[in-house]
Amino acid sequence: MPKIEERVNLKAYNTFGLSAEARYFFRLEKQEDIHWLVEQEAFKSLPTLWLGGGSNMLLTQDFPGLVIKVELLGTHLEILSDDEALFSAYAGENWHHFVLESLENNLGGLENLSLIPGNVGSSPIQNIGAYGVEIKDHVEWVEAFDLKDRLIRRFSAAECEFAYRDSLFKSREKGRYVILRVSFRLTRRNHKLRVDYGAIRSQLVERNIQPSIHSISEAVISIRSSKLPDPAQIGNSGSFFKNPVISEEHYQQLKAEFPEIVAFPAGEKQMKLAAGWLIEKAGWKGFRKGDAGVHNKQALVLVNYGKAKGEEIKSLAEDILHSIYTTFAVRLDIEVNII
Ligand code: FAD
Ligand code: EPU
Repeated sequence: MPKIEERVNLKAYNTFGLSAEARYFFRLEKQEDIHWLVEQEAFKSLPTLWLGGGSNMLLTQDFPGLVIKVELLGTHLEILSDDEALFSAYAGENWHHFVLESLENNLGGLENLSLIPGNVGSSPIQNIGAYGVEIKDHVEWVEAFDLKDRLIRRFSAAECEFAYRDSLFKSREKGRYVILRVSFRLTRRNHKLRVDYGAIRSQLVERNIQPSIHSISEAVISIRSSKLPDPAQIGNSGSFFKNPVISEEHYQQLKAEFPEIVAFPAGEKQMKLAAGWLIEKAGWKGFRKGDAGVHNKQALVLVNYGKAKGEEIKSLAEDILHSIYTTFAVRLDIEVNII
């Protein structure tokens, strides 16, 4: 019989390491339990929070409703041809383990996304991306439970409305779907290697290694470990803000004032700025107030040195937003889900 727990501390379930109590807590280990769950009083009458690895959220207070930790497990490999395969996983599988399993099966496509924290089920929410690849490039379908119509739906990649750190599930239909399973179309040979991201190429050259799906994964793991804080050591949720996209005209004005500004073309007459550069330039890198701070190797990452409260991190984020706006007339958007 499934069981709802009461008054569970979420500290171990979020990578910021923030203490917050869930009034009710449920582990979804079997897909069929979802039908039982939606009929429970706590589900029907209180707010709900679906939880994966807790690596993209900031808990600012105790949660007065029901937290549902999605723990559905299993992977499935379907060979389509000598060239391609579909590799899928249930939502509760750890993302990095899934990537490693794809590499063990010699499947290409996800190697640049090695070592991203969190679970497979959350990967479509913000269309996770790193080192020149986003999951939208490889998603075949996303299977989700529709909480409104109470049925399972399968979305094609196009239907997910993926965009930079965004999707249907994070924006237009936020809260409506529980992601159960995700399938990826991957290559079995003639892998398309993506080494354009400068840091990957220089890692491979430095270590005199031929690019392959395996060596790219190793290079990505090495780069990430060198600059991103390990949540097991210092609490964080990765990039706290998104990289802002501004007009070419605005960029030229900024470039005239700050010639060393870091930016990349992002579609017609638009530029994507490195928010980490803006935050560092505005003097925030390494800043610390109490236990809330800005990481000293990556200014886009806010950290909890131990006992910070979610509200303190949120307040630091607001100070940074204000400072970036007054210095560069650029509005940053928050990437992390504030709860
Ligand atoms: P959670 O934090 O548990 O949840 C995130 C959101 O998804 C919440 O709104 C939650 O309610 C919702 N959700 C979770 N599971 C489900 C479900 N099954 N159905 C419906 N909704 C659900 N992200 C990148 O894109 N690229 C990076 O390079 C990257 N690097 C990171 C580095 C570090 C050190 C850290 C800590 C984070 C990084 N992130 C990065 C952010 C994070 O890893 C991703 O956003 C990841 O997908 C979050 O997964 P999670 O399972 O932890 O999600
Ligand atoms: N930079 C600075 N100072 C800093 C940080 C960055 O000047 O403190 C400049 C550097 O010039 C650097 C450039 O910004 O070359 C880009 O930095 P980096 O390569 O570290 O990437 P990012 O733009 O800061 C993005 C993603 C990361 C992802 C990396 C690698 C966003 C919001 N963040 O960071 O994703 O891992 O690229 O692809 O797009 C996340 O979303 O949580 C996340 C970690």
